Amino acid sequence: MTKRIYTYGASVLREKALPIEAITAEIRELAASMMDTMLKAPGIGLAAPQVGVSLRMIIVTYGIDVEKPDPRVIINPEIIWHSDEMESAEEGCLSVPDETGFVPRWSEIRIRGMTLDGDEFEELLIGWTARIFQHETDHLDGILFVDRLSFLKRDMVKRRLKKRLKSEVNIL
Ligand code: NI
Repeated sequence: MTKRIYTYGASVLREKALPIEAITAEIRELAASMMDTMLKAPGIGLAAPQVGVSLRMIIVTYGIDVEKPDPRVIINPEIIWHSDEMESAEEGCLSVPDETGFVPRWSEIRIRGMTLDGDEFEELLIGWTARIFQHETDHLDGILFVDRLSFLKRDMVKRRLKKRLKSEVNIL
């Protein structure tokens, strides 16, 4: 079952999401519906706050740069180390429709998380997998990619988003 995707202006996108304490049936259900929602959108990553749930769960599609997309659910994701080097690439977000921008991200990260089976793991991520992981964990701290754009671009994009919000209110 797919869920509604919350977009720019929704307060849930600005909250600090809470850790998941136990993998219950509800958590599994949330993971399944997030997966459906992401694949249908379609997207290559999704965080629980984007479907209105302020919990620390994300989906990261591994291997899109080697054309072997493998979307994985990660619970309580953390970045425990990062390279000094950063790389810029163009990102978008299902919660910020019609906007893209170049975002600097660490090129290598070491991460920790838990699978839906409750197995804790650590691994080194590079390339797009590392980028998606950083984008999605940002969502759990209330940060959107537009917050990380260069000052001028950020100003322009935010003005456009605010205008769009206003016009949505007018339609209602
Ligand atoms: Ni996003």
